[in-house]
Amino acid sequence: KKLAVFVSGGGSNFRSIHDSSVNGLIHGDVVVLVTDKPGCGGDEYARNHDIPVLLFPKLKSSVEGLSPTELVITLRKFKVDFILLAGYLKLIPMDLVQAYPRSILNIHPSLLPAFGGKGFYGLKVHEAVIASGARYSGPTVHFVDEHFDTGKILAQKTVPVYTNDTPEQLACRVLHQEHQVYVEVVSALCEERIVWREDGVPLIRSRE
Ligand code: GRF
Repeated sequence: KKLAVFVSGGGSNFRSIHDSSVNGLIHGDVVVLVTDKPGCGGDEYARNHDIPVLLFPKLKSSVEGLSPTELVITLRKFKVDFILLAGYLKLIPMDLVQAYPRSILNIHPSLLPAFGGKGFYGLKVHEAVIASGARYSGPTVHFVDEHFDTGKILAQKTVPVYTNDTPEQLACRVLHQEHQVYVEVVSALCEERIVWREDGVPLIRSRE
């Protein structure tokens, strides 16, 4: 399967997915990277690994970058099967959601539906979790719809929240689990082990 990864930042999830595809854990290839932040860690990594990079959306200050329609056309040219958001902070346009039904995933660093939606990104998520007094947190992998963090949930992992945790410490503990769970889910996706129940709930089948 052909994968497009979308990033805005350091791209550690992108790197773990790329590593897993290179070493055969994921039966798929990252054929293109999409970013809204030229020069971010994910962008650099892609260029160092000969992965083509697309800029989306257009930069405000110039005409550089793709429109939603151009993005869909370009992803089709790359024959992309699945889109993986990995720390991409912009909303995904309706055109793309409709062009790739049940084929776009996101990873979020909290146990959704808690601590999700607009405004919950980066360390803000972990600050809010700690302030709430929650004893557990962890990443969620979910399908993407036209809103932030509301698509069908596929997988979650839990990590403890300790009483003296700083947001940075919690972020680090959650990120470690993100790398595991995202690779597990993407490998299931590429092996067509995700099945949709009649009531619209996605389930992951284990390998036979
Ligand atoms: C992760 O915490 C992810 O859950 C969130 O953005 C962060 C991206 O981290 N959506 P990285 O760029 O993959 O290191």
